[in-house]
Amino acid sequence: NEMYSKQWEGCMEIAVQTARTAGQVIREAFKHEKEVSTKSSPVDLVTETDRLVEDLIISSLREKYPSHRFIGEESSAAGEKCLLTDNPTWIIDPIDGTCNFIHSFPMVAVSIGFAVNKELEFGVIYHCLDENLYTARKGHGAFCNGIQLQVSKETDMSKALILTEIGAKRDPATLKIFSGNMERLLKAQVHGIRVIGSATLALCQVASGAADAYYQFGLHCWDIAAAAVIIREAGGNVIDTSGGPLDLMSRRIVAAGTVEMAHYIAREIQTITYERDDHNAN
Ligand code: IPD
Ligand code: CA
Ligand code: CA
Ligand code: CA
Repeated sequence: NEMYSKQWEGCMEIAVQTARTAGQVIREAFKHEKEVSTKSSPVDLVTETDRLVEDLIISSLREKYPSHRFIGEESSAAGEKCLLTDNPTWIIDPIDGTCNFIHSFPMVAVSIGFAVNKELEFGVIYHCLDENLYTARKGHGAFCNGIQLQVSKETDMSKALILTEIGAKRDPATLKIFSGNMERLLKAQVHGIRVIGSATLALCQVASGAADAYYQFGLHCWDIAAAAVIIREAGGNVIDTSGGPLDLMSRRIVAAGTVEMAHYIAREIQTITYERDDHNAN
């Protein structure tokens, strides 16, 4: 109903303000030397800015919405479940593209998604360096800096530009599936495959129609929560790599402008298994 919808509209305005403030901090830090440490593996990197920005985002939102729940990458202890309850829940990636950030490769974003009753209500993704703000609220369309977004209508794989990401697992078996998946798409004569180092910004390219599809294994709920709303509201499809509905906690996604392309990719690619974000909990 209208009041229900209005309530989350206010939250979304706050999300936009918060993402812009966080983006400013990241933009400033981008120019300076970064203090880098590793988390679960030598390629799982974090900087002091990731933690600082997440604290800033969560503390300012918590002050306004003390009863809400928060899932954030840097405050989720390693191995801890991300339990999505029916309560209003903010799902936050303070810096998406940490490796880019460390190398000063300018594809870095703040991602804030919001779910109620386990349903995504809105998403905000801020490309900190280009200052592009992607926003979408369920039922109200998707926008970049206020301009409405529309996904690509391409159904033909041999005319497609595809995005993917590499993920954290580098063992031989995983690499074999990863390159096998790429090989199958290349054999379908796709125009190109790109890896830009930011799942959220890759998904925003699909929402904008600049890329026809995206797929990845090994990402987390904070990589896809905001982007899923943005793609859906831009007329696109987000599904599980099995071909079924998207599962926020499953660590995998296929997104595409058209249903045909989403299902083609889901059919073609082989699964790389990662432990779920919710560890099979209900
Ligand atoms: C990562 C980036 C990367 C994707 C990884 C993510 P982070 O997020 O989005 O492109 O391949 O799966 O974990 O760690 O930079 O927030
Ligand atoms: Ca990370
Ligand atoms: Ca991320
Ligand atoms: Ca991150």
